[in-house]
Amino acid sequence: MSQSAAPNPLSVVFDAARAEVYDTQFAAMQPVKDAVHLLVQAHFADLPADARILMAGAGTGAEARYLAARFPGWRFTLVDPSAPMLAVARRHAEAEGFADRCTFIADYVSAAPLEAHHAATSLLVSHFLTEAPARQAFFADIATRLDTGGHLFNLDLCADRQAPTFGATLGVWLDLLRLGGVPEEGRRGWAAAYGRDFGVHGPSQLESLIEAAGFTPPALVFQAAMMRGWVAAKR
Ligand SMILES: C[S@@+](CC[C@H](N)C(=O)[O-])C[C@H]1O[C@@H](n2cnc3c(N)ncnc32)[C@H](O)[C@@H]1O
Repeated sequence: MSQSAAPNPLSVVFDAARAEVYDTQFAAMQPVKDAVHLLVQAHFADLPADARILMAGAGTGAEARYLAARFPGWRFTLVDPSAPMLAVARRHAEAEGFADRCTFIADYVSAAPLEAHHAATSLLVSHFLTEAPARQAFFADIATRLDTGGHLFNLDLCADRQAPTFGATLGVWLDLLRLGGVPEEGRRGWAAAYGRDFGVHGPSQLESLIEAAGFTPPALVFQAAMMRGWVAAKR
């Protein structure tokens, strides 16, 4: 695996053990992810029937599975530095009969071929990048693989930790984790790691990083407690 153009101080491990449980680990949150996928579908619906979609941090392929079932002519480039996560994505694509429309790249986006795509997704990925230059480089690597005007849908765990309402937002997120079966110790660990190991940048800082990477000013289109989703277009 080649290195990202900028250092990638990733503190959360996506190894084989994590990859095998990833799809069921947060099953209680599925309605939230469903809402995000629905918004991606709506935003990308104007793309041509043979559109090419870049999926940065594709993981086990949830977004590919959702879009492949709805857009039978679309092709997908699934990029993820975790080979075990991508192996699960390939398994799903083969079982669901759309693997021939996928290219799997077990690496960073910076290592993906410089092919133009009509749109890109980055769902729950960039919050792991704690250094601003690396986070901006991640979005720039996506931008250089998009057509001018190409869509970006970015979803991150992102909140303004200075806001007086931060505690209430975090509280609802922790309620959601409890509903999903995360024990108290795990929830406490999550709250301690947030803003330190991931989710370091607040919404306005993240919006600036995306714009500086070569996109139009991102528009906030989704929020569910600590999750925020934006759309932007490649300049
Ligand atoms: C929480 S998972 C999200 C997977 C999928 N997008 C989803 O919504 O289910 C985050 C994924 O981002 C990947 N990842 C972490 N750092 C990355 C980077 N710098 N570039 C691309 N992917 C990265 C991880 O390997 C992991 O598979």
